[in-house]
Amino acid sequence: MACALTCPRCAAVLERVETSRCPACDARYPHLDGVPCVLHDAAAAVDRFARAYDGFAGDSRAQLDAIAAALEDPTALTSTRARLAAFADGVRETAASIATLRGRFGLDRRRGDAPEPVPSVAGHAALLDDYEYLFRDWGWGAHAEAEHARARDLVLTAIGDRAASRVLVLGAGAGRLAYDLHRALGASSTLAVDINPLLVAVARRMFAGDALTLAEFAPNHLASPHAVVRRSLHAPAAAPPGLELLLADGTRPPVAPGSFDVVVTPWFVDRLDRDLRWVLPGIHTTLAPDGRWVCFGPLLHARGKALASCHTADEVIELAPTCGFAVTSEHREVIPYMDAPEGSGRREPVMVLAADRVPGERWDLPTWLRGVEIPVPRTAATTRACGPVAAAIGALVDGRRSALATATLLASRGVPRRVALDATIEGLMALQAQR
Ligand SMILES: C[S@@+](CC[C@H](N)C(=O)[O-])C[C@H]1O[C@@H](n2cnc3c(N)ncnc32)[C@H](O)[C@@H]1O
Repeated sequence: MACALTCPRCAAVLERVETSRCPACDARYPHLDGVPCVLHDAAAAVDRFARAYDGFAGDSRAQLDAIAAALEDPTALTSTRARLAAFADGVRETAASIATLRGRFGLDRRRGDAPEPVPSVAGHAALLDDYEYLFRDWGWGAHAEAEHARARDLVLTAIGDRAASRVLVLGAGAGRLAYDLHRALGASSTLAVDINPLLVAVARRMFAGDALTLAEFAPNHLASPHAVVRRSLHAPAAAPPGLELLLADGTRPPVAPGSFDVVVTPWFVDRLDRDLRWVLPGIHTTLAPDGRWVCFGPLLHARGKALASCHTADEVIELAPTCGFAVTSEHREVIPYMDAPEGSGRREPVMVLAADRVPGERWDLPTWLRGVEIPVPRTAATTRACGPVAAAIGALVDGRRSALATATLLASRGVPRRVALDATIEGLMALQAQR
């Protein structure tokens, strides 16, 4: 790995990450098809990935059974039979391809029932979430070139003449933009971070120059004449050296501070439940002193996100300077999105924002949030908290308890395990921001 990764438990540099072990706290970080999985609960997250692959395999079998039952109906039309048979072929072939990826990721065997810490964000979603990105990124061939080129050029324009030899892409998905940027910039190192174990597994193979066959199921597949389309996925060419993948939480990238010239967040910040204010410290920390953050995409926001956190473009521009970023350019445009060869697709208004890192450690993620097992110092909670959650979390800061221990305590008091760590981190960040 070209850049130094850090342990999400104790924040130590993982100098020899190939050994998958933190030299300071002995935490283990498995590699899946060569991709490091650097999450504080890596072993449990890998188990969740395996369960997601299990769930997908079970769904595929159920779909095939349902199709077989439908084909037994003697009144089914000939054309309906042909459609169902094609659909079954797609399900079968896709299940086989995904089983191969699973094997490469070493997820055939589950690790068992070791006690799980309060979990990270990874591995809770269904395996096929964001499946469509695989086809746009690697399966639509020349048809998608214009869409890829527009995304790449918008980001390149925002990067401008900045040195961009070390690039971090957060929420990189299936990886096409990271791949295109790496090639266009001639970067020495581009790190593409995501938590989706299928998108990352496919990106890994695409970067290696492999091909893969998957079936694309049209969104309205039951009615569409293109219910299922067999696609060959491949990159235009194997990626040049230096393009790497990482399974990690992009809101607190486990990389050495100051490692990157540019951090790109493509179609990412709105997807998070977390308020952008609490994502920017991770980006600030990661950037080199004169580094630039490029935020690209719409502001669609996840359903259920707190309304106050569903920032508009104008709010993002107002927010950035309060988090240690000087906005240098801003561009808005309506671009084609998911413009599929068969005709579906839409247009989406996007913002491309370039903001330079303002020096100042106060904007950074504190070490005790880069390593969730590091005790949170008493000074972190010396101000009066603004909200009840931050106040409750502040009351638990005793100079010895870490963010993870606080989250574990909250979980034991009834806070859902899955949100306990994020709630703790947000509360601690809110306290920090007031100091
Ligand atoms: C809307 S998709 C965009 C994907 C890609 N940037 C693109 O433009 O095609 C958002 C991506 O963010 C990833 N993601 C969501 N939360 C994340 C997190 N906390 N850390 C890393 N990736 C995350 C999802 O897995 C998904 O791939």
